[in-house]
Amino acid sequence: MNKKIVGVSVLYILVMCSFLSCFNSDSSKNEKAEKNLIVGFSQIGAESAWRKAHTSSVLAAAKKHNIQVLYNNAEQKQENQIKALRSFISYQVDVIILVPIVQDGWENVLTEAKDANIPVLIVDRKITIEDKTLYAGYLGPDNTQEGREAAYYLQRKFADTNETITIFEMRGTDSSSAAVDRFIGFREIVEQDSRFAIIASETGDFLRSLGKEVMHNWLQAHEVPDIIFSHNDGMALGIIEALEENAIGPGRDVIIVSIDAEQDAIENLKDGKLNCVVECNPNIGEDIMQLIIDLSQGKTIFDTMYKPEIIFEEGVDLISIPPRGY
Ligand code: AHR
Repeated sequence: MNKKIVGVSVLYILVMCSFLSCFNSDSSKNEKAEKNLIVGFSQIGAESAWRKAHTSSVLAAAKKHNIQVLYNNAEQKQENQIKALRSFISYQVDVIILVPIVQDGWENVLTEAKDANIPVLIVDRKITIEDKTLYAGYLGPDNTQEGREAAYYLQRKFADTNETITIFEMRGTDSSSAAVDRFIGFREIVEQDSRFAIIASETGDFLRSLGKEVMHNWLQAHEVPDIIFSHNDGMALGIIEALEENAIGPGRDVIIVSIDAEQDAIENLKDGKLNCVVECNPNIGEDIMQLIIDLSQGKTIFDTMYKPEIIFEEGVDLISIPPRGY
């Protein structure tokens, strides 16, 4: 992994610290730096329980570190995110946290942030951009790996079958890296196995309500697939409702694999209505704060940092899974 050095105006902090004689220990230096920090946080919205937990994790960690946060909920619109970033820049925040709803279209506003000497930390979803110096680094899940893990589970589940196995995929928000990378990672594995046939792929925009509606519509005109791969738990919960309303047994008549590991999904896994859930970890606030402190002190950070994640599946001890908290 490449390391980047992020240039920020640490001189002010250093001068202040020398005046206040706060170089006695590393912790007192951190304390001082943290107290002065103001961060802009552009969040996508509140489309899922996962997302709400993600927001709470960041805000709670900031509070703990006495870091002031200017929080903006973009209500699922990139234009609102760009507007929020511009207001953070005029406010001259120390660091910007951006959770980009989609991958593309960030060049202009990130150039403005760079020109203002404000490091931008990309969180949860990646961006595609040629000039990698326009952001400090990425911290979040490895969405491609999550897609692969969903497929590995299916290989384990169907290890003894030689027949064709049909798959219906419910994608997350189009053009978001979470949906794009899960789509890619999943195919990377299933396409190596000629038994698996992806017969349809439709978007449910990471929303429970849309997941349910799309599944209902699909069932009006098509056979029940063998497998449903849902890009998140919210849509999977909607799918389960749609299946039950059509007298189809989720987890039994159709195998369901999903991503996030929300408490509701774990309960459905215990009830046999879901077969596998790949964790996507929203509890990232503490890691973000550490990086913000590093960036504000001009330290180097890795350009890509993934949170480790686990797989929950049927057939193992599900009772002792600790409460998920989201
Ligand atoms: O970007 C992460 C995805 O966005 C989560 O899987 C989903 O639940 C959320 O809304």
